[in-house]
Amino acid sequence: MSTFFEIRSSTANYSVQIKAGLLERTLHQLSDQLVIADEYFSSVIKESGCTYVTLAASEAAKSLDAIPQVIEALRERGANRQTTLIAIGGGVVQDIAGFVASVYMRGVPWNYFPTTLLAMADSCIGGKSSINVGPYKNLIGTFHPPAAVLIDPTLVSTLSDEMRISGLIEAAKICYCHGASKFQEYLAFDPDPTISGNKVEHLLACSLNAKKWFIEIDEFDKAERLLLNFGHTFGHAIESASHFRISHGVGVALGIQCAIELGNRVGRTYHAGNRIHELEGHLRRLLCALPNLSNEIKHLSVAGVVERFNADKKHGADFFTVILVANSGSVEIVRLPKDGGTLDAIRESIASAMDSMDSSIART
Ligand SMILES: NC(=O)c1ccc[n+]([C@@H]2O[C@H](COP(=O)([O-])OP(=O)(O)OC[C@H]3O[C@@H](n4cnc5c(N)ncnc54)[C@H](O)[C@@H]3O)[C@@H](O)[C@H]2O)c1
Ligand SMILES: [Zn+2]
Repeated sequence: MSTFFEIRSSTANYSVQIKAGLLERTLHQLSDQLVIADEYFSSVIKESGCTYVTLAASEAAKSLDAIPQVIEALRERGANRQTTLIAIGGGVVQDIAGFVASVYMRGVPWNYFPTTLLAMADSCIGGKSSINVGPYKNLIGTFHPPAAVLIDPTLVSTLSDEMRISGLIEAAKICYCHGASKFQEYLAFDPDPTISGNKVEHLLACSLNAKKWFIEIDEFDKAERLLLNFGHTFGHAIESASHFRISHGVGVALGIQCAIELGNRVGRTYHAGNRIHELEGHLRRLLCALPNLSNEIKHLSVAGVVERFNADKKHGADFFTVILVANSGSVEIVRLPKDGGTLDAIRESIASAMDSMDSSIART
């Protein structure tokens, strides 16, 4: 089977194809191309005979300091205005390739093969690149969608359980934010860390179709698309306070739990039967499959998370911007005053979310 659809974008529409075996089948056609790939794929890339740059995927690799080396490597390998860059890797390679493609000689086209479930289910569409500056994660970036997104779902078989869980968390979040029926469609796949085969392709189509709605209606992140930041302000703070031992998707799941707790503290009530409880239960089941997470949570400093939460670029001078869950179960953008009461509620929400997640893991 194969899934094909287009994303509307103000720069140019672009295509998304999902097909098992796509990377292997395409590699031999890449011999005259310039590839930026995750070093995990070094040997297969080498065999294809293409010109390539490989990168070790890490937060340090996508820092502004590391970008000149990539640009120089492309120049040394002959990249020019006629070059279409080919990126092969997860979100880190995507961020680097997307950023570099948007500025190299004022912009060259690129095609993207996402190789992690997170990149396949979420980040590969939307056109954003995000680069770290010093201690600030994703502080700068550009909008420069790839000309084509080519997804080979068989690549998820070599990912760790944690990487698969991270991707499922982002997919669950997108489908939840889209609305009740999309979230039920997602849950019907009964997603768990062993997901494989056709199920992956169907799940990716479901998640990308949900994300397509947000990015087409609000390409530049001014209104509806901001809702996809659900769990991310807390999530990024948790990721960073753990010195990135907690991965992005797992940080987002913990961040969603913090947002639910904060909603409770600022007057939201989630009655039994509200779909937020289904999301909470699903995320808990996914996180309980991670044996080391309890240890990471225990070592997390709440003050460290609050400090990073405070520094998030989405806040204003006198208000915090958070995505909370309304009583109806829908997500909404909320501005909370920057005062002692809000800070206490934020601190308590983080502490309580970590405690409750840790006890859930301990019970399994
Ligand atoms: N630009 C966006 O829209 C966007 C959205 C979400 C996340 N991100 C960014 O993405 C990054 C996280 O990316 P990620 O979670 O996709 O992972 P990653 O790119 O950090 O890769 C994680 C690990 O998986 C390995 N790997 C990649 N593909 C593999 C495969 N098929 N089999 C085995 N190992 C494989 C890599 O070598 C690496 O060790 C974060 O920096 C985050 O900020 C960007
Ligand atoms: Zn994310």
